[in-house]
Amino acid sequence: MTLPTPAADRTALVTGASSGIGEQIARELVRRGHGVVLVARRKEKLVALAEELSASGVRAEVLAADLSDRDARADLPNRVADLGLTVDILVNNAGLSTLGPIATSDPDAEMNMIEVDVVAVADLCSRFVPAMVERKRGGVLNVASTGAFQPLPGQAGYGAGKAFVLSYTRALDGELKGTGVHATALCPGPVDTGFGEAAGFDKADAEAALPAFMWETAEAVAKCGVDGLDKGRPVAIPGPANRVGAVFAQLAPKRLLVPILASRHPGLK
Ligand SMILES: NC(=O)c1ccc[n+]([C@@H]2O[C@H](COP(=O)([O-])OP(=O)(O)OC[C@H]3O[C@@H](n4cnc5c(N)ncnc54)[C@H](OP(=O)(O)O)[C@@H]3O)[C@@H](O)[C@H]2O)c1
Repeated sequence: MTLPTPAADRTALVTGASSGIGEQIARELVRRGHGVVLVARRKEKLVALAEELSASGVRAEVLAADLSDRDARADLPNRVADLGLTVDILVNNAGLSTLGPIATSDPDAEMNMIEVDVVAVADLCSRFVPAMVERKRGGVLNVASTGAFQPLPGQAGYGAGKAFVLSYTRALDGELKGTGVHATALCPGPVDTGFGEAAGFDKADAEAALPAFMWETAEAVAKCGVDGLDKGRPVAIPGPANRVGAVFAQLAPKRLLVPILASRHPGLK
């Protein structure tokens, strides 16, 4: 088991904890006795969750922050230190997607997505991993996607961003061998959260494009990710269908696969 032992002055910082997978990862960590620092923009949602989680006896704190803002990210280590806590587990979960072809994309929306999905992940790892290595204990759970295993026409920037997170996390875990710190990339397939609506997916279209056996609950995805980190796995993919799909996506010639994906993606209809 590689997850650090919970203690009163140690915490797990979970980004994007105000809904969906991040909220469930926070719940899963609390179930295992870890205190949490909940990070996202919607403070009222974080406060309600922290109040509920605190009732189980662990310490749950709220740090509202917009992770697209470089100064807000840079402030996080000091804000955690001001609470008298050290971050033993970092969960980079906050994320979003744009939808549709690059040819009609909004440059600001694309840059905002890349700042949250990609830049913030690398930024927070650079800010929190050094102290974990010094303490010889820690864990990093970065949320990628099965969209990381192949190009994703219709969500090109999102898929490429998640490919970054997957490659970065595998490399980080390789660098960390023997330090007492581990890193896991969690690669979910489709999950019914606020994600699809925020991206502009029509729920019926998304369900038609992605068969029912690929969908996993946010609870199951969270458990798979925390289990993966605890077992020291570099990559965790929730659900057998998504694990098979990931192998196929990596092996299939992209010259054949990409046109098929482009013809089926709801964002390109
Ligand atoms: N749902 C899926 O099908 C699916 C599949 C594969 C991977 N994923 C990945 O799973 C992760 C969680 O997504 P989800 O499905 O749980 O979606 P969600 O319910 O929409 O949650 C997204 C979270 O990210 C936070 N967030 C977004 N922009 C932010 C910003 N600028 N600053 C701080 N926090 C921000 C949101 O909080 P606020 O709005 O309060 O800031 C929210 O807590 C994402 O990385 C996503 O790419 C999702």
